[in-house]
Amino acid sequence: MSSTPHVVVVGSIMQDLTFTCDEFPRGGQTIMARLATGQGGKGSNQAIACGRTGVRTAFVGAMGRDAFADQVAAFYRREKIGCHLALKPGQATGTAVILINKEGQNQIVIEPGANARLAPADVPRALLAGAKVVVTQLESNLATTAHVLRTARAAGVTTILNPAPMRADFAPVLLRYVDVLIPNESEFITLVRGLPGIRRRLNEPELHAMAWDALHALCRKFNVPTVIVTLGSRGCFISMPDRHLFMPAHRGIRVVDTTGAGDAFCGGFAAGLVRYPGRIAEAARLGTAVAALSITKPGAAFAMPHQVELRRFLQKAKAA
Ligand code: RIB
Repeated sequence: MSSTPHVVVVGSIMQDLTFTCDEFPRGGQTIMARLATGQGGKGSNQAIACGRTGVRTAFVGAMGRDAFADQVAAFYRREKIGCHLALKPGQATGTAVILINKEGQNQIVIEPGANARLAPADVPRALLAGAKVVVTQLESNLATTAHVLRTARAAGVTTILNPAPMRADFAPVLLRYVDVLIPNESEFITLVRGLPGIRRRLNEPELHAMAWDALHALCRKFNVPTVIVTLGSRGCFISMPDRHLFMPAHRGIRVVDTTGAGDAFCGGFAAGLVRYPGRIAEAARLGTAVAALSITKPGAAFAMPHQVELRRFLQKAKAA
């Protein structure tokens, strides 16, 4: 059997420093919290989420030469997915400080460090061209993200862009190379602001109140075949060229930590596209299940469900 990965995720890897507290601190306030460390980074989280579903996956990223990098390397040795980690001497491994409150909501601050130095030359072209699906985000080097999308598109590979975190230097022209765009609500609002002819900033209450037909019409303006807006605990909205649908999130989930839930969705969705080629709704169903399970555990990569848990969860959801 060939071991060519079916999904290649190119992007960020971070060391997460997670502080769990009762309430988020106010400006000027000092509070007590419990600290836990673990692997994160949107790119790496997506790769782990995808790989743990059983779909052959590889991750491409960059790290420094420091103690955090040793932990990242050890983590990838334990995971059964391929990884290409470029070493960037003189750069720190990316670090994220995450605050979690008692509702499991998070606030995240990142220092990208080595991620910002991920270069096109660090991404093996054959790996991209041999994949069925390539996934990327905006947390590493933007020029490399553009290179990855262009290269994958030229090779006829399905491209997914999760525009997270949204940044001021993002050029909407990049969307030309994207097959599936997966923003959350705030990223979607920012993207809409960049559309030609849009004069007024859409706000969250307006987005929430918008009829699905109107949201679909807005999504079509990006000229991206599929746009999936993740709507947090509500679920997600899927806009395809010929139809749209709302997929509710799973109910009755005990929320422990929502960190990486969007990454879980993206990774699960990418795996779904391999399992169910061309069936966007089926792929999103898998993404939704992976995301639901990911919030029942603490941490980012650590919380991504394994195949057995996922199978059990899907069987239970089907029977309900
Ligand atoms: O999406 C969650 C991730 O964002 C965290 O793991 C953190 O590393 C930041 O990249």
